[in-house]
Amino acid sequence: MKNKKIIAGNWKMHKSLDEGIAFARKVTKLLLNVESTKVIFCPPFTALFGMMEELTVSSFGLGAQNCHWEESGAFTGEISCTMLKELGVRYVITGHSERRHIFGETDKWINNKNRAILSHDMIPIFCLGETFEQRKSGDTESVLADQLESGLNGIEVLGETIIAYEPVWAIGTGLNADSRQIESAHETIRLKIKELYSIKESENISILYGGSVNESNAKALISSKGVDGFLIGGASLKEKSFYDIIDINEQMNKE
Ligand code: PGA
Repeated sequence: MKNKKIIAGNWKMHKSLDEGIAFARKVTKLLLNVESTKVIFCPPFTALFGMMEELTVSSFGLGAQNCHWEESGAFTGEISCTMLKELGVRYVITGHSERRHIFGETDKWINNKNRAILSHDMIPIFCLGETFEQRKSGDTESVLADQLESGLNGIEVLGETIIAYEPVWAIGTGLNADSRQIESAHETIRLKIKELYSIKESENISILYGGSVNESNAKALISSKGVDGFLIGGASLKEKSFYDIIDINEQMNKE
């Protein structure tokens, strides 16, 4: 996978089924010849099944924004990995700051989800990141290391697990982290993966950056050392912006 950058769009609670299908149809047509990018669409649950039919080419993937770790049971409102897999879902976002902070998800739950996803041969897009206060008090490195360690607790084989470094203060604020901050955070994450697993896994794992990525900053951010792609919120909702960001990566790989 590391020969390609990964660009994933996290649509959050946006777009109806019809809007999702129309978006995917248009953008995938424009991107039919992508070579250097794996493009992942993460729409709301309601659009997953309909969009799957639009994503038949291997450069495109379908991701969910959440899952429950149990197989089935009395969990009103929840969806299991098996249910998602049946729809053609291969990726699931976990640990997103909105889930941690608005819905109170704990590290333990996130760990349960990561384990369940991997045990279903699916791929977690495991998000972590510090708040502004944690950065200000110099705790970024320890926060990232702790989130990583607890989220991966008991997981022996990482498989194709994707990590997304998403500083909380940069999400949806228009204030992206700069290259120096990103490089240092990605380095911290890689060192922790090396400590928990091996050098090989630390080199192989894809670490994405997320937080106010757009078509104006994408070139500089994707060129930052250790950045293997993006997890994009706001800009992934606009066809042109999402396409332009992917095209920037494609063009850079042709240079
Ligand atoms: P943003 O969101 O690109 O709108 O900052 C990123 C995310 O929430 O994953």
